[in-house]
Amino acid sequence: MLSNKLQLFLCCILLSPLVLAAADGSQLWLRYDKVTAAEAGRRQIRSTSSGPVALMAKAELDDYWRGPAVELVIDKKKREYGEGYQIKWTGSGLQILAQQDRGLLYGAYHLLRLQGEGKDLRGVDLTEIPAYDIRILNHWDNLDGTIERGYAGRSLWKWLELPTQISPRYAAYARANASIGINAVVLNNVNASPDILRPDYLLKVKALADIFRPYGIQVYLSINFSSPKIIGGVKDSDPLNPDVSTWWKNKVKEIYRTIPDFGGFLVKANSEGQPGPQDYGRTHADGANMLADALKPYDGLVMWRAFVYNPTTEDRAKQAYQEFVPLDGKFSENVIIQIKNGPIDFQPREPFNPLFGALRKSSEMVEFQITQEYLGFSNHLVYLAPLFKETLDSDTYSDGKGSTIAKLTDGTLRPAKKTAISAVANIGEDTNWTGHHFAQANWYAFGRLAWDHQLSSEQIAEEWISLTFSREEQLVHAVKEIMMTSREAVVNYMMPLGLHHIFAFDHHYGPEPWGDRKGGRADWMPWYYHNADTVGMGFDRTASGSDAVSQYFPPLDEIYGDITSCPDSLLLWFHHVSWTHRMKSGRTMWEELCYRYDAGVQQVRELQKAWDRLEHQVDSQRFAAVQSKLKIQAKDAVWWKDACLLYFKTFARQPIPYDIERPV
Ligand code: GCU
Repeated sequence: MLSNKLQLFLCCILLSPLVLAAADGSQLWLRYDKVTAAEAGRRQIRSTSSGPVALMAKAELDDYWRGPAVELVIDKKKREYGEGYQIKWTGSGLQILAQQDRGLLYGAYHLLRLQGEGKDLRGVDLTEIPAYDIRILNHWDNLDGTIERGYAGRSLWKWLELPTQISPRYAAYARANASIGINAVVLNNVNASPDILRPDYLLKVKALADIFRPYGIQVYLSINFSSPKIIGGVKDSDPLNPDVSTWWKNKVKEIYRTIPDFGGFLVKANSEGQPGPQDYGRTHADGANMLADALKPYDGLVMWRAFVYNPTTEDRAKQAYQEFVPLDGKFSENVIIQIKNGPIDFQPREPFNPLFGALRKSSEMVEFQITQEYLGFSNHLVYLAPLFKETLDSDTYSDGKGSTIAKLTDGTLRPAKKTAISAVANIGEDTNWTGHHFAQANWYAFGRLAWDHQLSSEQIAEEWISLTFSREEQLVHAVKEIMMTSREAVVNYMMPLGLHHIFAFDHHYGPEPWGDRKGGRADWMPWYYHNADTVGMGFDRTASGSDAVSQYFPPLDEIYGDITSCPDSLLLWFHHVSWTHRMKSGRTMWEELCYRYDAGVQQVRELQKAWDRLEHQVDSQRFAAVQSKLKIQAKDAVWWKDACLLYFKTFARQPIPYDIERPV
């Protein structure tokens, strides 16, 4: 029996916020203990800059740095550093040198990260320059507190309380972003309410911008193209109507009066029912340039989305290219075309969007999705760095071999006024921020790749695990294995071989390949994408079909267009393939499909076992939370396998091989 005193003591320890904070995931990858007064006394942190961002850098080191003296130095002589920095061992301490205060802040977080990873810093001399100027999160948060495709609770932004009441999570959020180099955020949903531009909301936005500023974060807003008409009392929102452009100019002036470092607008126009310039017979360029003109005097930007498609007879995968390529060269300098990584919509695997590289005289940026709309919400463990890398490393051949999407968008191959990269956030008010503890890794990975797209998925995973769980070698290795398997597993159990968009209607959780809605849009129906019939299945995008392959530069058009050279991973994306077609494995397409679905299920079972083995190395709270999510994932994987195989079997009219997990 424990004595009463001991019981009380244990109880206090268990309930102490410190212990809970460590186990509930709220600290993300920033699990540093504050230094004691004695430790602080042993070292000095000095800064040559006294700007708010530099002071933030100093404060972070004051609070958490346990190493030798650090000097934060603004060195204007440094060329081409942008927001980068150098960290140098001076013989007795460290120097962080940067051109701008933001560089000092990122350097400070780098030091803390190295400390967290247990690295020896004597003799260190490293230089970091970010790959992209703007590293931006897109929140799809609505003004009523809900989040479109958000799976981590309601919105962080408490619009009803702002600007009077300030949640401590605003600063914690900004700090987390700054620690991985994210320097901009779009606060509201791309399906934007015009209300965000009302004066009362702008004051709320200002309150957030004021909190984010010392963390080096700029605020952007999604706008509704019909705002002049809806909230401005203008007759229409035609971009060529002088009253409309005057309204926007005045609105932008008001915004900059309120938020002097405002970033600009993100625009979803003429897409999925949103208003846009085409409502008035104008083009995307007319719309974007009118806004760009208003923002130009303040150095503001327009991020104009290329996610456009309509229910026509044309293949949805081709439409963005068809709409935007003819407009190349017509966009103002401060417009960036924001393009989703794939031509459909954030599927578990897609080929890259053929618009990349095809726009030669317009700036392009990638839009990824961190929130797992099509990847099991926050129930499934899916590490997204391999997906992000797959896109960034894709060679488009637009300017010859080696024209990767990374190089096309980071300024290497196409000079741009500003380069940028974006991703749809997975953050909400859940205690652990992202619903699944491992979904934190995807936020982290986006930030790290936006800073340096040459980092490998493995490197990022190692960093994140060391900072978030422990640096114990065997644990890092085991968790890394789990993470690195997870993306391919989800592709296998959901949509192997290039299948896509066979999700349950609208909410996109779970399979519904049979799905149909009377009167519903064909391009939202699964059969539109899988085209299963008694001959085979897949989307014929070759010259005999929609010819989407022709939107890719040679030799990709031929590689994708030929069934013998098209990679297995994209086969059903580009081809309608007969059930008896011989795959590279020697199996028929039908057999291969069965084996891939089964492999996905078996991979998740392995993830479960691997996690279970870590029971004594991870705190019990996070261990149990991840364990129970993996149970859901395993159940869902079986659901996907059974649903899809039983459905497609009705077309294939062939048995499911007996070595596939049963019952099917
Ligand atoms: C997807 C998603 C929508 C979102 C849209 C977009 O279609 O399901 O919720 O609004 O993408 O990116 O605009």
